[in-house]
Amino acid sequence: MERRIFLKNTCTICLAIGAGLTLSDLSSCASLPIYKTAIDENKISIPVSLFAQNNLQIIQPKDYAFDIALRKEKDGSYVALLMRCTHASNPLNSTGTGFYCTLHGSTFNAEGAVTKGPAAVALKKFPTEINSGNIIIHLT
Ligand code: FES
Repeated sequence: MERRIFLKNTCTICLAIGAGLTLSDLSSCASLPIYKTAIDENKISIPVSLFAQNNLQIIQPKDYAFDIALRKEKDGSYVALLMRCTHASNPLNSTGTGFYCTLHGSTFNAEGAVTKGPAAVALKKFPTEINSGNIIIHLT
């Protein structure tokens, strides 16, 4: 593991514990898969096959300021959440079961709803569709 990634993961866990999250909240964060890709005409394409073993994938679009959490729902649909805190636009960290902000401590559940302020607005959701074995996220 690269030193930078190790430090980010380690610091993320320490900050989350400081924010009141428990280790069980963080149990899956260290193993969350990250998929790096490019944006093409305001769309991101992600292979459905990435969800064969996980129902949550972190998407890192090239030259985009924030990650996107892409989650497969039980009905087979996909939800794409912008990992940008709605309080003051700080990048969010995933706990595996939700999201938290290291700047002022807001937390969000897996659906993007606020579970602890100061943020008062849910996370932005992007429309998704499935096309030829790919999940298409429309960056609107
Ligand atoms: S920027 Fe996230 S809680 Fe303030």
